[in-house]
Amino acid sequence: MRKLQNKVALILGGTSGIGLASAKLFLEEGAKVILTGRKQRKIDAASKCLSGDFEIYQADITDFESTKKAIEKGVAQFGHLDIFYQVAGKATPILFNQATPKVYESEIKTDLIAPIVALWNAKQYLNPHASIIFTSTTFSTRPAPTMSAYGAAKAGLVQFAKSIALEYAEQKIRVNVLSPGSTETPIFDELGLPEDQIKGFKDFFRMVTPLKSLGQPEDLAKAALFLASDDSKHITGITIDVDGGLNQSWHLVPEA
Ligand SMILES: NC(=O)c1ccc[n+]([C@@H]2O[C@H](COP(=O)([O-])OP(=O)(O)OC[C@H]3O[C@@H](n4cnc5c(N)ncnc54)[C@H](OP(=O)(O)O)[C@@H]3O)[C@@H](O)[C@H]2O)c1
Repeated sequence: MRKLQNKVALILGGTSGIGLASAKLFLEEGAKVILTGRKQRKIDAASKCLSGDFEIYQADITDFESTKKAIEKGVAQFGHLDIFYQVAGKATPILFNQATPKVYESEIKTDLIAPIVALWNAKQYLNPHASIIFTSTTFSTRPAPTMSAYGAAKAGLVQFAKSIALEYAEQKIRVNVLSPGSTETPIFDELGLPEDQIKGFKDFFRMVTPLKSLGQPEDLAKAALFLASDDSKHITGITIDVDGGLNQSWHLVPEA
């Protein structure tokens, strides 16, 4: 029996990187999958490379109404939700002294408020024994220069997840967090930095990661599958670091 047979998964931010790899694996494991993303080009590409029972909707997670509508359309199609999985997020590396309050507002809206609002709008469709998964980052536990906005927002998300895990326990709904270390996805291209600087980031993270490699989206997808499936039915309120040991390393200090 496939691990997600008869389950319906909502993946917010599923058209690229970790979300797309997870969507592929979830479909292979028998899930029906509802995906969201913003850019039409990525939606078209994802539609072509996925196979199985899925629906993709264009919805920005920070546009609460459009995400709510996407959730409603997906549920109208598939009936209910067994897996709520937030992947959509953004990183804005910037020094505090160079940032404006707007940078913080924007980070906190995307990486903390929007996932909470999305869950708020999805919660009525969750089946008993559902699995809720949020995506954080090593920077939620390990401080680094330029990462105060991103790290603060994601740390808030982790604490939110752990708190509601206790509230949902009575209903046997589980809430867990995936915390990727540096992972080879198109997120680096979204930073708008020159190629050599991106290469520099990747080289740096390869060097400071104890396993001396970057993560692959599939590494996260496999951990997401574990949290989504009944294999983790006695696990709630935890964070799984899929980071090659980065969260245990003493050297996480990227150049400002
Ligand atoms: N890659 C890493 O090194 C790394 C490390 C630590 C944590 N993370 C976390 O992992 C998550 C996924 O990252 P990734 O590396 O897989 O990134 P990615 O390849 O850029 O994929 C992000 C996905 O989310 C969608 N998305 C982004 N912003 C969105 C928004 N506002 N509303 C709806 N969809 C949105 C993207 O599509 P559109 O662009 O079309 O919206 C895409 O489908 C993020 O939460 C990130 O913070 C990543």
